[in-house]
Amino acid sequence: MNSYTVTLIRGDGIGPEIAESVVEIFEAASAPVRWEEAYAGLSCLEQYGALCPEATLESIRRNRVALKGPTTTPIGGGHRSINVAIRKAFELFANVRPARSIPGVQSRYNDIDIILVRENIEDTYAGVEYWQTPDVAESLRLISRPGSAAVIRYAFDLARRLGRRKVTCVHKANIQKLSDGLFLECFRAIAQEYPDLESDDILVDNACMQLVMRPERFDVMVLPNLFGDIVSDLCAGLIGGLGVAPGGNIGNGYAVFEAVHGSAPDIAGKGVANPTAFILSAVQMLRHLGLHADAERIESALRYTLVSGIKTRDLGGNANTREFTKAIISNLPPRAQVQAQNEPVATPYRTPMLPPRATAQEGWLTVGVDFFFHALQPPTDLPAQVGALRLVAVSNRGVALETNPASERYLLNWYRARYVAEQPLSEDALNEALRALAPRLHWTTLQRLYRTREGQNLFSPILTD
Ligand code: NAI
Repeated sequence: MNSYTVTLIRGDGIGPEIAESVVEIFEAASAPVRWEEAYAGLSCLEQYGALCPEATLESIRRNRVALKGPTTTPIGGGHRSINVAIRKAFELFANVRPARSIPGVQSRYNDIDIILVRENIEDTYAGVEYWQTPDVAESLRLISRPGSAAVIRYAFDLARRLGRRKVTCVHKANIQKLSDGLFLECFRAIAQEYPDLESDDILVDNACMQLVMRPERFDVMVLPNLFGDIVSDLCAGLIGGLGVAPGGNIGNGYAVFEAVHGSAPDIAGKGVANPTAFILSAVQMLRHLGLHADAERIESALRYTLVSGIKTRDLGGNANTREFTKAIISNLPPRAQVQAQNEPVATPYRTPMLPPRATAQEGWLTVGVDFFFHALQPPTDLPAQVGALRLVAVSNRGVALETNPASERYLLNWYRARYVAEQPLSEDALNEALRALAPRLHWTTLQRLYRTREGQNLFSPILTD
């Protein structure tokens, strides 16, 4: 039988205690996994002088799969988060969080079975933020076609591989028409390639309500990063919270599995940590490797243990980590009793990334420019026309000024002036207009406005009252 070498990072706080639990259970279950120990976290910084040493990244690069315990993020200072370092090094574009009810773990439902797939790199997490004025901070929400396509394709492939029925896209494309619109457009296009799976989409606000009222409506969900972050905690809440919420970060050929919870310094070293979420992350890893029978065996032993009332303190029981682990081991069902088959998967998993496209290929035309600028009063001296560009609107907080002169709305010290041309602009004409306009405003941002050859504007209209 195939055996897999996996990088094991025990991490900080309760990390070593819950990692030991997984190591013992895997050994008792004869799961075909060989651990290669690597180090990261605060303890690693103290011992080896680095939060996430190159040797750890090399180990993941070699093995392509890692199981990572929680790591403590040092507060303050210039430390890069370990998770960010790992996510960036391996382009881990999908975060997969299964939420499955566990009998014996108290929660509002007992039949939840949802897999949430969250985009893991883009959206507001690209971290592109600026102060525009002393009163205004701006965060760019970046959604890309290659980034969306990669995570959506992964969600469909995962659904197919795990024999699931439906994939639901969660978005806010009624408001974020361009960015979430792009995510939804990618979803609809890719769904066509999976006729064996149902697909639908839902607005994120409605999705939250439906999850609480009719969670059985959902099977596999795919979401942009920020919505995914929020909704995945909602899903964790549906099955009993942090102590039982596993996760995996998936990239092109790489995967790092870890529980959702942190290093729990308040209970570290006391031997009372709940290893459930970490065991479930390891089970998720086994499924990723195609080791479904091993995954099933360990998961059913865990579930049986919890049903039988053996639980750690956080779940209302009185077992310590060791007692709980021993109980799971004693509850491992005989291999022959397990229904699932181990099936080889195409490891390492690869989702094709779309190649970058040049603007010229799209035939985009420049038809104007938005000037964002800092001013204390609504501007009165903006030129109505500069070369080929005509002033069409000045807006504040996204809404045009002067559409309702009696309006008493509060005006920020950050305005936008939109200049548009009748005909597509040449670069020379655009630059000439910018040279004439720029010195007249305390501008903070310049935004080019595109239109397709077919006449579709590639920018949002300015709202009016
Ligand atoms: P936390 O998840 O470590 O703890 C929150 C609360 O839940 C604590 O009361 C803790 O005792 C309890 N708890 C968490 N996991 C438990 C378990 N398995 N068994 C029993 N009780 C459990 O979150 P907190 O306190 O905000 O963060 C502590 C440290 O962990 C911070 O340095 C944070 O940056 C880091 N962290 C690391 C993560 C990672 O490496 N993936 C994720 C989240 C936080």
